[in-house]
Amino acid sequence: MPDTIELLKTRRSVKPREMTGPGPSPAELETILTIGARVPDHGKLAPWRFIIFEGDARQRAGEIIAQVFAGKNPQATEADIEAEKKRLTDAPLVIGLVSITKPHPKVPPFEQELSAGASAMNIVTAATALGYGAAWLTGWFCFDRDVLDRLGLKPEEKLAGMIHIGTPTKPSEDRPRPVLSEIVTRF
Ligand SMILES: Cc1cc2nc3c(=O)[nH]c(=O)nc-3n(C[C@H](O)[C@H](O)[C@H](O)COP(=O)(O)O)c2cc1C
Repeated sequence: MPDTIELLKTRRSVKPREMTGPGPSPAELETILTIGARVPDHGKLAPWRFIIFEGDARQRAGEIIAQVFAGKNPQATEADIEAEKKRLTDAPLVIGLVSITKPHPKVPPFEQELSAGASAMNIVTAATALGYGAAWLTGWFCFDRDVLDRLGLKPEEKLAGMIHIGTPTKPSEDRPRPVLSEIVTRF
C-alpha cells in the first residue's frame, strides 16, 4: 500500500471508459463504504447514504436514465439513447452518493452538503488506496427529479454524484493543478 502522503499527492481520477473488472471484492467494498461513512459530520446527522450499482443493476439504472432522456428529448437519435443506457456500465462498481439535508438549529444545509462531499472524496481515496481507479461524476441525470425518483431517492434527497470504481486499463495522465501562490493568502 502506498505511503498516505504520496497517495494523496499523486491520486488522480480514472475515466470510467478506462476501467475494467475486477471491481472491489465484497470485503473491499465494505471497507470503502466504512471509510465513506467516517467523515466530518456536524451534529452526527449522517446526511448521506450510498446506493450500490453492480452487475445488471448498472444496466437497469441505465434503462431508467435512457427512458427519461428519450421522453424529454423527442429529437434524440437511437445512438443518443443507447449512450444514455451505458452511463453506468463501464466500471464494474458505481456508488451513488445521496445527500440528505435535515432541518437542524445549528447545522445549516450547506454544512450537511459539504459532509456529503467529504464522504464522496473519502470513497474515491479509499478505492484508490486499494489499487482501483475511481471517478466522481455527475451529468444531467443526477439532477433530474424523474430519474432520481425512479432510482429510489426520496423527494428531499439529492444525488451528490456517482462514483465509478474499477481496475484501470492504463495509467492516467495528470491534469494541471492550481498554483498555490494563486489560491493561498495569509491573513
Ligand atoms: C460533484 C462533482 C461532479 C463531477 N462531475 C464530473 C463529470 O460529470 N464529468 C467529469 O468529467 N468530471 C466531473 N467531475 C470532476 C472529476 O471528479 C475529477 O475531479 C476530475 O476529472 C479531475 O480529476 P482528479 O480527481 O484527477 O483531480 C466532478 C467533480 C465533482 C466534485
